[in-house]
Amino acid sequence: MGSSVLDLPLEETIPLSPEALACPHDYNTRLRTEAPVYKCPHTGIVFVSDFETSRKVLRDHETFSNRFSVAMRPDEVDGKVHEVQKQGWPAVDTMLTQDPPEHRRYRGLVNQAFTARRVETLVPRMEQICHKLIDGFIQAGRCDFVDAFSVQLPVIVIGEQLGVPDEHFPLIRKWSEAAALQLSGQADTRQQVEIAHVILEFQNYFANKLDERRKDRRDDIISDVVHARLEGERPLDTAECLSILQQLMVAGNQTTTHAIGEGMLLLIQNPEQLAKVRRDPELVDDLVEEVLRLSTPTANMWRVATRDSKLSGVEVPAGTMLQVRYSSANRDDAQFDNGQAFDVTRDKINTQIAFGYGVHMCIGASLARKEMQVAFRVLLERFTGFALEVDPSELHYPPNVLLRGLAALPISFVART
Ligand code: HEM
Repeated sequence: MGSSVLDLPLEETIPLSPEALACPHDYNTRLRTEAPVYKCPHTGIVFVSDFETSRKVLRDHETFSNRFSVAMRPDEVDGKVHEVQKQGWPAVDTMLTQDPPEHRRYRGLVNQAFTARRVETLVPRMEQICHKLIDGFIQAGRCDFVDAFSVQLPVIVIGEQLGVPDEHFPLIRKWSEAAALQLSGQADTRQQVEIAHVILEFQNYFANKLDERRKDRRDDIISDVVHARLEGERPLDTAECLSILQQLMVAGNQTTTHAIGEGMLLLIQNPEQLAKVRRDPELVDDLVEEVLRLSTPTANMWRVATRDSKLSGVEVPAGTMLQVRYSSANRDDAQFDNGQAFDVTRDKINTQIAFGYGVHMCIGASLARKEMQVAFRVLLERFTGFALEVDPSELHYPPNVLLRGLAALPISFVART
């Protein structure tokens, strides 16, 4: 199945089809080589896949807007989905799907919570969480690394920061997974109804928390959001607060999970790189950047053209949907020597754009980086002999037009004494 899409002429393929999503790196290589700015004749979407043009688009937020939720909303939401949505709060464009100047105002309110300095104070707690998770599976000698570790760490960290009690962390996982499925572009009507119910549950849960924190301010992000004043004046309403909280969970959890999972797989598949990091533990930070480059969990992201323009000779009329392929840009040989190879000592590693570029660059980048650095330090300290417990062909990446990551990663290991 994967090979046919690679053999067909580009114009006979659809970049968002399950076949193309099943072999993204090979398909992206074709795009970069044959048409780095490619207007799909079937959908009219413009796909940008090389490093330089991707950065050009991301820099120019006036021409290439993030107000893509309007363009993406189906003309007709299925009645059953609408019935459920009506019971909740309306979707509001705050950060990811908003442009400056409104974008700057909302983002300014949340920035404080994620500064590098603040994130540094969380390191001891992140270490504790990693050790505790490992204690839970170390005796067995094997685990599904995604379920046992890489899903758990980001959920616990953001759950604690938001001020959600431990017993509700499984809900955070459920909400994040539903929202990721919504972004996937693959949910059928039955799943869309289920997603709408899960998002309604999320909204009701956090609307209650917002009320609690309005009366009783605590040292957590929910309190910060509820007591924030837009332009020093009006408080955010509940729909705005919910939009921000939803993004912190959705944008943060699955992505970090995917990056940590893929990092483990890359270390297993590249023992000589693992050996380098073991010899020189200072390399962990570069390991994390290289894992981010090759995994690029936010594989693709939308933009919508606000005015007529031209990219590498391709006409892009106002109203065109564009998809920037971060994961392709991050493997572009023109920027990264032998871009498909995993090399923890490569040049220009800090130019990778897994966290985006420009005004929408990930607000949680410091937090995610730190979680990954702590996770890999602790994992290398406690284990050796990592091995894959299934044939690589059995590894499954659920199809998703924006996000990419492993559903499960069965591994074995030896505890270090
Ligand atoms: C490895 C983990 C992560 C990756 C790969 C990632 C990737 C990205 C990317 C590529 C963007 C830019 C989207 C665009 O260009 O339109 C973004 C934005 C965003 N990320 Fe992350 N992210 C990660 C972790 C996190 C975490 C931990 C949080 C929060 C707790 C977070 C919250 C956000 C938010 C709120 C935005 C929207 C920012 C804006 O539009 O101004 N992300 N992320």
